[in-house]
Amino acid sequence: MSMRLIREAKKLAGKFVLVRVDANVPMQGKRVVDDTRLREIIPTLRFLQRQGARVILISHLGRPGGKAVPVLSLKPVGWHLGKLLRQPVKVLPLSMKPEAIRKEATTGLVLLENIRFDKGEDANSLALARILARLGQVYVNEAFSFSHRGTASMVGLPRKLPAYAGFQLVHEVAALERVSKIGKKPVVAIIGGAKISDKLPVIVKLLPRLTAVLVGGGVANTLLQAKGYRVGKSLVEASELVNAKRLFKRAGKKLVLPVDVVVDKVGTRRKEGRLRTVTQVATNERIMDIGTETCRLYATYIKRAQTVFWSGPLGVVEEPLWRHGSLALGRLLAARARGRSYVLAGGGETAGFCNQHGLVFDYISTGGSAMLAFLANAPMPGLAAVGYRRAGKS
Ligand code: 3PG
Repeated sequence: MSMRLIREAKKLAGKFVLVRVDANVPMQGKRVVDDTRLREIIPTLRFLQRQGARVILISHLGRPGGKAVPVLSLKPVGWHLGKLLRQPVKVLPLSMKPEAIRKEATTGLVLLENIRFDKGEDANSLALARILARLGQVYVNEAFSFSHRGTASMVGLPRKLPAYAGFQLVHEVAALERVSKIGKKPVVAIIGGAKISDKLPVIVKLLPRLTAVLVGGGVANTLLQAKGYRVGKSLVEASELVNAKRLFKRAGKKLVLPVDVVVDKVGTRRKEGRLRTVTQVATNERIMDIGTETCRLYATYIKRAQTVFWSGPLGVVEEPLWRHGSLALGRLLAARARGRSYVLAGGGETAGFCNQHGLVFDYISTGGSAMLAFLANAPMPGLAAVGYRRAGKS
C-alpha cells in the first residue's frame, strides 16, 4: 500500500500529534446512539499514547455551516470517547491560544470543538490550516469516512506537517481495495439515507458495474418526486431534482424505485404507520419507510446478487416503527453474506444499525458516501494527502 503509515513515524515521544477523526456519530440529543466510529480509532490513539505523543483530535459533527451551533457541540462525544478510553477527553474551542491548547494536551487527550463551527473547514481555507498546524508537529488521518472531502483539516493541514495514515484508515482501504477487485456480477447497490447530493454522482459512476440500484430513505423520496409522484411532506433534497431526472435517463431499468411506502400523518401526536402505494401519498403525509411490496421486490434482486453494497438506511430507523424495511432486507443480506453473496455495508448510521441488530456481513465500513466514492474510483482527497495512490495510477 502506498500510504505513509503511522508506524513509520519516527520519535513521536513528546510530539504534539494532530489526529483527524470522524466523530460524526449518530446522536439522540446528548446521547451517542452508536459509537462504532469512536471504537475504531482507539488502536491508533493507544499507539500514539504508548509512544509518548500528545494527542489533539480534530473532528466535525453534523453540518453547522460555519457557525457555532450548540446542539452540534462535540462535548457529549468527547465524554463518550473518554468513557471508552477510560481517561478524560477535554473538548476545547479553537479560539483558545495555541499554547494553552498544547498545555492541556500535555496532561491528557484533547478534542477540538466541532471544526465545522469554523467556515474555513469546508472552504479548505489556508488560514485555518495554518492555525491548526501551529498546534502540532505530526498529522494523522484516521477518518476514512471523511476522506472523500477536501476540507482544511483533511487536505490543507497535512500539506503543512509530516502526514500519516492511522491503523483503521489503512484497514478500510485494504478491505475496499479487495472488494473493488472481487465485485462478482450481478452487483446490486442498495442506497438509502438522507444525503442524495453525495450519492447521485457516485451512483452514476458506479452504474456500468451495477446490475441494479435499489433505493430507499431520503434518496428514494427525491427520486420519487423527480419522477412526478406526490411525496407530501417527505424529506426531499429539492436542489437535486434536476440531477435526479438525469439519473433516470442514464440508469434506465437499473434504477429500481419503491412501489409502496409507509407514511406518517404530519401534525398528529400518535405515530402510526400507514401503508400506501407510491401514487397514494397525501399532502399531509411523509414517507418514513419502504413498504412490504417494495421489500418483496428488492428481495428478488438481492437473492440473485453475487455482490451487494448497502449504504444508508431505507427508513427513519431511529424509531422502531420505521425500521421494518431496513430490518427485513438487512436480515436477508445477513443470511446471504459470507457464502452466497459478498455483502458490504457502510456509513455511520448503517454501521450503527447493523451493530444494533446483530447483522453480520462480509465487511462493514465506517464510511457511507466515502465507501461509495472509493468503490466508484472518485477522488479521495483525504487519502491522497497521506500518500495514497490507486493501484495502476502514478
Ligand atoms: C459521514 O458521516 O458520512 C461523514 O462524516 C461525512 O459527513 P458530511 O456528509 O456531512 O460531509
